[in-house]
Amino acid sequence: MRTRRELLQHLAGAGGLALFGGRLLAGCDDASGGGDDAGRALDAAGLLDATPDAGGTADAALVDADGRWWLSGNFAPVADEVELLDLEVEGALPPALTGTYLRNGSNPRDADSAHWFLGDGMLHGLRLEGGRARWYRNRYIRTSLFEGTAAGGPVPTIRDNASNVSLVQHAGHVLTLGEVGLPYAVRPTDLSTVGVHDFGGALSTAMTAHPKVDLVTGELVFFGYWFLPPYLTYHVADATGALAYSQVVELPASVMMHDFAITATQVIFLDLPIVFDLGRATQGATFPFRWDEAHGARLGVMPRAGGAVRWVDIDLCYVFHVLNAYDQADGTVVLDVVRHPQLWVDGPEDFVSSPRLWRYTVNPATGAVREGPLGEDPLEFPVGDRRFTGRPHRVGYAIGSVGDDFLGADARHRLLRYDLATGEATRRDLPAGVQSSEALFVPGGEGEGEGWLLAWQYDRARNASDLAVYDATDLQAVARVKLPRRVPFGFHGAFLPDPS
Ligand SMILES: [Fe+2]
Repeated sequence: MRTRRELLQHLAGAGGLALFGGRLLAGCDDASGGGDDAGRALDAAGLLDATPDAGGTADAALVDADGRWWLSGNFAPVADEVELLDLEVEGALPPALTGTYLRNGSNPRDADSAHWFLGDGMLHGLRLEGGRARWYRNRYIRTSLFEGTAAGGPVPTIRDNASNVSLVQHAGHVLTLGEVGLPYAVRPTDLSTVGVHDFGGALSTAMTAHPKVDLVTGELVFFGYWFLPPYLTYHVADATGALAYSQVVELPASVMMHDFAITATQVIFLDLPIVFDLGRATQGATFPFRWDEAHGARLGVMPRAGGAVRWVDIDLCYVFHVLNAYDQADGTVVLDVVRHPQLWVDGPEDFVSSPRLWRYTVNPATGAVREGPLGEDPLEFPVGDRRFTGRPHRVGYAIGSVGDDFLGADARHRLLRYDLATGEATRRDLPAGVQSSEALFVPGGEGEGEGWLLAWQYDRARNASDLAVYDATDLQAVARVKLPRRVPFGFHGAFLPDPS
């Protein structure tokens, strides 16, 4: 009689899905331990020696032996969880910038993962208070994958996801999001994990890592996509946090739908040609998505209250991230995104593209669509003033690169601020050897774009990271919180202001 592990290995190797970097095996009886024992387990296995250190002492290895850039340099995971108090600050932190900045990212605890997107979720938290940086903490999110309590089996369950992409605050909950599964609730005070959050049992699909909070209505608007039908489901949670509406949206295939947009009245889905490849999955591919031009590219406009979707074809492209969208008086919808003309043509490890800020103007009544660039800078991680989510916006921010190599160890980064009314772009180049994660906008005034930008930036020379603070109106540097260690490049964050 075969053991459970042997059975799962058989399924993974011959007909079973091997998504999530082989984490199907995480639920086996003899899987390695989790929780607070993780570091000790790694030590015992000798794996920590294979991991670039947490920083502060030497330059991290730039490329690992197998060329897996997402395990190298400042993409490499940090193995330990720490608390650092009363951090050094260069410049002057604005006293009004008080709250907790949390950022999520992929941090494989066993120092190995098959893709940048597949590591365990780790939160990095920084407490800013009255002009001081009170504490920094980093904590793994105690998902079922991390804890070794995943269900196992050939198809992952929505509970069993790494929760490593982003987070959102809504209706008193802080939720970490992994895109291909349910959220996990966490406590922002100590970054500990409460547990999986399924809206009191009402949510039975995955949840995007880019839900939209409508600050006018208090609603949380989101969707979930999946590898098997139904491929796409739309959801709205009301201002109390209760799941109020769900609707299946028909798609011809399972696609990687990373983001979407809302306006005051409409929701816009992105059905783009990164498709889930069941054949590759059953052959054991750990990240079975591929570029498929035959799928085409289209936008789907649907009333936020639900109903029929108006699909309109657009030029082939992929969009990870939306800046914002809004309704116009003539009934058209404006959608601003970062558009990649193509993606992963040479495989899902290749992120070199030519992404540009791009505008679609869609008439959902006629199906007419116009599209074109809003600037010439290569860029990613678009961020707006979230007080204007779904409403007309004028300002957008992003991390730009000099040339199209955005993620390379020698990539030159800059902060970008676009005034979309004038077309003016403000650029703030970072010094060579300093690279930036997402720059998050934090409101600090009444008007759109009045506030600060917060970004973890890695300084290769000292192999450590700073939390850089900029004035969002002109990108002037305001302060840097100096950490004696690295914060690996990650994905998305949220700033949690103190209750007023
Ligand atoms: Fe994202």
